[in-house]
Amino acid sequence: MSTMAVPRAHAGHRLRCVLAVVCALCWASSSVRFVAGQAGQLSVDASPQTARKMPDKMFGIFFEEINHAGAGGLWAELVSNRGFEAGGPNTPSNIEPWFIIGNESSIIVGTDRTSCFERNPVALRMEVLCGSKGTNVCPSGGVGVYNPGYWGMNIERRKGYKVSLHIRSSDAVSLTISLTSSDGLHKLASRTITGGKKQFTNWTKIQFRLYSSQNNTNSRLQITTTKTGVVWLDQVSVMPSDTYMGHGFRKDLASMLANLKPQFLKFPGGNYAMGQYLRNAFHWGETVGPWEERPGHVNDAWGYWTDDGLGFFEFLQLAEDLGASPVWVVNDGASINEEVPTAIIASLVKDVVDGIEFARGGVNTTWGSVRAAMGHPQPFKLDYVSIGNQECWMLYYRGNYQKFYSAIKAAYPDINIISSCDKSTISASNPADLYDVHVYASSANMFSRTSMFDNTPRSGPKAIVSEYAVTGNDAGKGTLVAALAEAAFLVGLEKNSDVVEMASCAPLFVNDNDRKWSPDAIVFNSWQHYGCPNYWMLHFFKDSSGATFHPTTMQVSNYDQMVASAITWQSPKDKSTYLKIKVVNFGSKAVDLNITVTGLESGIKSSGSKKTVLTSGAPLDENSFEQPEKVAPVLSPVADAKQQMGVSVSPYSLTSFDLLLEPSKHSAI
Ligand code: AHR
Repeated sequence: MSTMAVPRAHAGHRLRCVLAVVCALCWASSSVRFVAGQAGQLSVDASPQTARKMPDKMFGIFFEEINHAGAGGLWAELVSNRGFEAGGPNTPSNIEPWFIIGNESSIIVGTDRTSCFERNPVALRMEVLCGSKGTNVCPSGGVGVYNPGYWGMNIERRKGYKVSLHIRSSDAVSLTISLTSSDGLHKLASRTITGGKKQFTNWTKIQFRLYSSQNNTNSRLQITTTKTGVVWLDQVSVMPSDTYMGHGFRKDLASMLANLKPQFLKFPGGNYAMGQYLRNAFHWGETVGPWEERPGHVNDAWGYWTDDGLGFFEFLQLAEDLGASPVWVVNDGASINEEVPTAIIASLVKDVVDGIEFARGGVNTTWGSVRAAMGHPQPFKLDYVSIGNQECWMLYYRGNYQKFYSAIKAAYPDINIISSCDKSTISASNPADLYDVHVYASSANMFSRTSMFDNTPRSGPKAIVSEYAVTGNDAGKGTLVAALAEAAFLVGLEKNSDVVEMASCAPLFVNDNDRKWSPDAIVFNSWQHYGCPNYWMLHFFKDSSGATFHPTTMQVSNYDQMVASAITWQSPKDKSTYLKIKVVNFGSKAVDLNITVTGLESGIKSSGSKKTVLTSGAPLDENSFEQPEKVAPVLSPVADAKQQMGVSVSPYSLTSFDLLLEPSKHSAI
């Protein structure tokens, strides 16, 4: 019998598989095979003399419209392409993701430019050829269109859904609007709209609520009829009534954000703020006002259409609802492929100053009145504006930056302006309040960046590390080891919080049906969600903003895989003060750590302290819809906590010891 030759491609593939398995085994076995015995010393100097107050807005979030984070994500609108504009302004156009119910003998569906909305002129035209009787009888259930939303609509029993649509008709109308199963065979809720010939001659807005008696995570919206004639539809919306603070944000996802206690919200991107081309950048002015009048735009940075339900106003509202300071990344005239020269940047500068007026202006100002009409007469607290995303290297960036800086400071001197250039470029003639840093690295590299700011000059503007993430192979779709490397990086930022003012990870969200970027902190689909290990890691840092930082020293011989930090913070719940010691073990060894705390003004109570550990069976472990909390923090009490204590730190882990302090004068700085 001859030996079977392995085709070249297969051989290569096999080699890659073997290597991948070996690598995975390296990671996996290192945690399993380890024999404990490594010993170390962690000293915490909690004396007031060396303590330092950390910035109040140290840890926040960065929301970018990427991976359908907003459209089909945090923004709860269930209809995708509600205004039929996604196919472009020229008609007839593509109506995706709308589908036709019926065939050419019963219905002809297209678009024309007869909408009543000036800024989004395209409307859907349905020419119904069949009827309820005669020679061309409509199929049972009628003909029309359906919209599957963003990979299925999640319809929940007894919850209300606010349906809104604009109708025009050549004749009397009988339209049935239903929420159905994904195949349309099973009706969950429906309403029939009828009207005489004259009633719908002009565009008419119809609004009502639907309630379903059943749950269905993969539903669709149908609009059907058995009446011959021509009907036009536009701005069709289905909005769940139950949203976060009633402001249109998907409740489960917004709660995930709120649980992080973010101190700032940077938005709307990222590359999304820039666009591949300027025509597709985020132009704030086209995202405000009544939602029906927003034109929407192609998010060409990440390859999908957005109806701009989540617009400038909604971002400001979200920040307010989360108790976070908004940080607005303005489009500064740069897209990924184009740039506006400084000589003609003035109109864009004015546009940005107008945007600030929209957020902060009084109700009698031009733009403040638009905000007030949207239901928010009080100004939003917009204190941070980032000039661009990460385009310092572009030809006109610095010239344009100066124009934005001068105009914004002239109108709003208190606004903190963030530069995309690094600290070395900032001077009296090129001023900035903060400079933006983006860090994407492998896990090993990210771990090593725990010391990234150790040698940064201590004077001058501080950094906002507004995008950081472990990327590449060991990041997977969000692994434990990536979260640990990021934790080590954040420990480094805490230590350097005299020169680093703010930090946020990127990206925040991914709709699992449109993964444009991995990893992300929160994964969801139409009805489920889970936090990746780095989402849970962020919980270890949520008490740090505004807390008191204490220096630490770590000594573990022949093992450089551990870092630690310490803070004292006061729980808003019970008003107790805790000394929180965080320890990252990025390596495969368990470590017996002797913790010594000196300089405390008040003692550690022997009971009431707790330990929280984030770890898992293997460093590449991830969470999933099936196992959403495979890698999640585990809390346990610390028995007999004291100023000198021995603890055991697991391999590949992040551990927080929250030591309850005696109630005393332990002073907040
Ligand atoms: O976070 C994803 C992308 O990474 C952002 O859009 C961009 O700013 C960065 O390059």
